[in-house]
Amino acid sequence: MDAVVALCKRRGLIFPASEIYGGIANTYDYGHYGVLLKKNVVDAWWKSMIQERDDVVALDSAIIQHPRTWEASGHLAGFSDPLVQCLGKCKQRFREDHLREAQPEGELVCPVCGGDLSEPRAFNLMFATTIGPVQEAGSTVYLRPETAQGIFLDFKQVLQFARRKPPFGIAQVGKSFRNEITARNFIFRTLEFEQMEMEYFVPPDQALQWYEHWMRERFDWYVRLGIEPDHLRLRAHDADELSHYSSATSDVEYLFPFGWSELEGIANRGDYDLSQHARFSGDKLEFVDPQSGERYVPHVIEPAAGVGRSMLAFMCDSYDEDEIGGEQRTVLRLHPALAPIKVAVLPLLRKDGHPEKARAVYEELRRHMKAEYDDGGAIGRRYRRQDEIGTPFAVTIDHQTTEDDTVTLRDRDTLEQERVPIEGLAQRLLGRLAP
Ligand code: GAP
Repeated sequence: MDAVVALCKRRGLIFPASEIYGGIANTYDYGHYGVLLKKNVVDAWWKSMIQERDDVVALDSAIIQHPRTWEASGHLAGFSDPLVQCLGKCKQRFREDHLREAQPEGELVCPVCGGDLSEPRAFNLMFATTIGPVQEAGSTVYLRPETAQGIFLDFKQVLQFARRKPPFGIAQVGKSFRNEITARNFIFRTLEFEQMEMEYFVPPDQALQWYEHWMRERFDWYVRLGIEPDHLRLRAHDADELSHYSSATSDVEYLFPFGWSELEGIANRGDYDLSQHARFSGDKLEFVDPQSGERYVPHVIEPAAGVGRSMLAFMCDSYDEDEIGGEQRTVLRLHPALAPIKVAVLPLLRKDGHPEKARAVYEELRRHMKAEYDDGGAIGRRYRRQDEIGTPFAVTIDHQTTEDDTVTLRDRDTLEQERVPIEGLAQRLLGRLAP
């Protein structure tokens, strides 16, 4: 884990936010390659939801919703963690459930100073703010703690606009916010994070079958994008772990360097959310079959993943160190579809026509994929720089290129170097990028 964190910082993928002021707990910024990798994770998710299926539509709902939303959803009353405070020297607060994981036996003690702890107290995870210049009754609103509620609020509109009939899904990617107090494990748990959530509305008697479908689909998605199947497992929640809205949940767990932990949750939310919003709003949130006249409140199966957490899993799983010609290298063996840069174009020399030729190859390749031009330093060092950020291909322009319009194409993983013509190079690479 330390090696991944160090790589992220060294190459500017992800680093602590507000560092010039000493940082802010559980908050990170994403730099150039981090932004590109994040975008590729999100694109791969949209592709699997929208491009490869006919039964899911997209939505982008507001982060700040009417405050009644959170009363109806149960988050105002129930979205809380049990907190304990150190009664000894340090007075810090901790999540009781996190302490219990680290101290499975006996009376809990403060992990920092060893002091006694207070009784647990419920602590709501939602960030509250106010609308308008003054804080007055009714002006309190919340930053959404999940994107899902926006989907339930818009269920009726989407049903009409998209002319859908259950089973169908509404997918959304966006920021969510939680007042997490336990700083740990890099971007695994942060105050603000992006979620990729899809609410799949089904006839009640099909809920179980779709719950199983989405567990398989989501597990396979991570495998298709390169995660070792042995590093993934599905784990059903015990009854006492279930969220207030869920009748059954299974997590896709990944074997992070700090142990098995949740990557994504697949929940059977039943008709809880639509029924609650119908009750609180007075609106009917149901499906009426125009042919048969049958009416029912659809049940909901929800695969909910975190973008940052997926990124962390992809990076941990692809991180490797090996040796080439007696020299140590660090390499991210990312799936090409996720790699921030797909191909690096490297002139062997900064003279003899190499840069001009390399520029022309680069201009052509960048029309089709994210490419990077690099002419700084020895060729070996340039390969290493690209290996570290997971670039699957490097194209080197050398003396022979100026004679016969061929280049060497280096593969990050096999280290094989083939001599290939410039003509058709983009097509050749595109064929090797898709999942
Ligand atoms: N709508 C259901 C829901 O939000 P969740 O299990 O609380 O369920 C879904 O969150 C996913 O969002 C998690 O599996 C995780 O990947 C991500 N996630 C949740 N809280 C997070 C946090 N504080 N930091 C980073 N990712 C988080």
